[in-house]
Amino acid sequence: MPSKGTIVLTGANGTIGSAVISRIMSSRELFSYHGIYIVRNASYYVAPEQETTHAYNALSLELSSLDRVRAAAVTISYNEASSRN
Ligand SMILES: NC(=O)c1ccc[n+]([C@@H]2O[C@H](COP(=O)([O-])OP(=O)(O)OC[C@H]3O[C@@H](n4cnc5c(N)ncnc54)[C@H](OP(=O)(O)O)[C@@H]3O)[C@@H](O)[C@H]2O)c1
Repeated sequence: MPSKGTIVLTGANGTIGSAVISRIMSSRELFSYHGIYIVRNASYYVAPEQETTHAYNALSLELSSLDRVRAAAVTISYNEASSRN
């Protein structure tokens, strides 16, 4: 199924972030969006255990660095534009 769009979520490993991702995965309306789930270290990202075809990537990003946030925003924006062409 083609992606309806993209959801970018920070704090994906946290209490609220995990709950939001569970909600996305269980929502008929939201699960077909592509998720970009931002954590400090993507190798430690653990998705909620749910049966779903929801597509996502875990992205490593240290949010205290504005330069890194800007660079990530440019990359995400570029990838989004490329995926639509
Ligand atoms: N839970 C509540 O009831 C509640 C109520 C009101 C407001 N809030 C606010 O909502 C926010 C999230 O709450 P939460 O309970 O989900 O907190 P949490 O469980 O501590 O999760 C915070 C998440 O933010 C990430 N994070 C922290 N500093 C970061 C940085 N510099 N760069 C990248 N990621 C960073 C952490 O990543 P790592 O996994 O890498 O550590 C973690 O996944 C907080 O600001 C909290 O103060 C929470």
